[in-house]
Amino acid sequence: MNTKLNLTGRDFLKLLDFTGAEIEALVSLSAELKAMKKAGVPHRFCAGKNIALIFEKTSTRTRCSFEVAARDLGMGVTYLDPQGSQIGKKESTADTARVLSSMFEGIEYRGYGQEIVEELARYASVPVWNGLTSEAHPTQIIADLLTMREHFGHLQGLNFVYMGDARYNMGNSLMVGCAKVGVNFTACCPEKYFPDAKLIAACEGFAKESGAKLRFETDPAAAVKDADVIYTDVWVSMGEPVEVWEERIHDLAPYQVNAALMCKTGKDETVFMHCLPAYHDLKTQVGREMGEKFGRDAMEVTDEVFESAQSIVFDEAENRMHSIKAVMLSTLENLQ
Ligand code: CP
Ligand code: NVA
Repeated sequence: MNTKLNLTGRDFLKLLDFTGAEIEALVSLSAELKAMKKAGVPHRFCAGKNIALIFEKTSTRTRCSFEVAARDLGMGVTYLDPQGSQIGKKESTADTARVLSSMFEGIEYRGYGQEIVEELARYASVPVWNGLTSEAHPTQIIADLLTMREHFGHLQGLNFVYMGDARYNMGNSLMVGCAKVGVNFTACCPEKYFPDAKLIAACEGFAKESGAKLRFETDPAAAVKDADVIYTDVWVSMGEPVEVWEERIHDLAPYQVNAALMCKTGKDETVFMHCLPAYHDLKTQVGREMGEKFGRDAMEVTDEVFESAQSIVFDEAENRMHSIKAVMLSTLENLQ
């Protein structure tokens, strides 16, 4: 490998634990692994190893990415679904960590509180990877940065605007990732949806070092002026009660990404990104139920923007696999 990274034995729990240089090196390693896959070059660098995937919340991209990436690296995979393990119900996180560490070389966890994945890592003797908690979604950000770097050729100085609930996993992790690698980050939403003040203060420190600028805006038109990337996520996340839809729609509807907003950047080359899944039409059960109930044909992004030439969401989704492969490879093997 050309990308030399010394993360062997480390957990991947949140971007706060990594330097900007390490995050950028993970993006480079993802690009390298993507090129190998496209060229048909075998890369079974972890042959003979096995990993466990714990999913306490559902998934399409993250699960498939871990499974395909593991197989490409030569590893075996065991998937534990939300009902299929004892974790949390009949067995503590600490006990689960010690049992799985005796059989697997790495453990992925998707679930609720960040403290669960942190505890799992404390008791595990093998690397633990965060596949999404309510507070953080770090593998998604490596994929997002890769997608932006592929599209614009660089990261430093790009203007990135996050529209919507910026207090949750995506808003938090994007702010940290951008601040660490020198991408200017704007969160645009009502004030009560701004990220936690302590996290903002930490990110101000990273931004000072990287040269990034952070902004917190309530006015969409002011936020998106000069934006290179407009990003959004669902207004109601996994694990949140269905009752919050009404308030979220009320609060966040003015922050929907639509064609009128995309035009306000003043740049033709602005792209649209979304971690997915997205409520851009009524072709999903939840989208239809909520759309009919609240008289809307889309939530956080219109179908027009989602399907437009400016939308790079499916490149972004593909990059989940390459970047998760980079995270696993760099923490399982010595690349120096
Ligand atoms: N973006 C993302 O994590 O997608 P899944 O929920 O399908 O894994
Ligand atoms: N905020 C979303 C992200 C999904 C990838 C959720 O937690 O459901």
